[in-house]
Amino acid sequence: MGKVWDVYVTRMLPEQVIDLLKMHCNVELNPYDRIIARGELLEKVKGKNAILPMVTEKIDAEVFDAAGSECRIVANYGVGYNNVDIGEATKRGIMVTNTPDVLTNATSEMAWALLFAVARKIVEGDKFTRAGKYKGWSPKLFVGTEITGKTLGIIGAGRIGSAFAKKSIGFEMKILYNAAHRNEAFERETGAIFADRETLLRESDFISLHVPLQESTVHLISTNEFKMMKNTAILINTARGPVVDENALIEALRTGEIAGAGLDVFEREPEFNPELSKLENVVIVPHIGSATSEARLNMGMIAAESIIAAMNGEIPKTLVNRDIKL
Ligand code: DGY
Repeated sequence: MGKVWDVYVTRMLPEQVIDLLKMHCNVELNPYDRIIARGELLEKVKGKNAILPMVTEKIDAEVFDAAGSECRIVANYGVGYNNVDIGEATKRGIMVTNTPDVLTNATSEMAWALLFAVARKIVEGDKFTRAGKYKGWSPKLFVGTEITGKTLGIIGAGRIGSAFAKKSIGFEMKILYNAAHRNEAFERETGAIFADRETLLRESDFISLHVPLQESTVHLISTNEFKMMKNTAILINTARGPVVDENALIEALRTGEIAGAGLDVFEREPEFNPELSKLENVVIVPHIGSATSEARLNMGMIAAESIIAAMNGEIPKTLVNRDIKL
């Protein structure tokens, strides 16, 4: 048997996850319910063989230098791994894994939750009712827009985009999608029609973003894109904040270029643009797309299993940097 690995976990995770890790490895974790400070992270990863970080930690050359040459894997707690410098990890022979599949339902459900909330003014209605302002039924009270029979535009044809599309069954929607390439399996599974981005933006009533954050998707939706959208369009972002130019979004919401937006992610997280909270036609939640007890447990189990597999000399199932030389 090889050496028992030293692991650093940047945040408290479900007990089962920590128990599993502790059965196989020496585990040190951030016991506080707060994001670990950069300096603390650099200190804590020293000499560790594995790091289990979240989207909130930037894992780059500085962290790898601090960890030292015994660091073998970064098991990121999330499907998105834009917080990890993959090139740098690969160069150093450090495996990077993510947690796909197990949060597909949770995140696609959140996209629907936001879509409903914006289209039917659920949050505004809730605030109004709690404030004791409801004085009886009114034909004009919180009139929203119907969802059934409308056109759904999906940007990104991966697992979450596909689950989101499938969940529209029953709403009898026309589904348009745009992605870097046509995806026939996606079309078969969802009935979606491939459209170039401009057509999708012009024709969709609801536009939901399901692309990873990478250079090509930064500000994918900006001023020009908002101009193409219908004035009645609603934009949903459960992907990553920087995919949308937030200043352009605020302007589009303010001027009525689009009708509303539902956001789970923000451009400069955890900073939050206070202008957003001044707008009534936006529903905002704090990056909780994968926040179901089921998803969060399974994300942790996958990350723990990846570390254990790597320690045992196996290739973890969710390895991201498949071109790594081990
Ligand atoms: C994900 O899994 O990518 C979530 O956004 C959390 O990082």
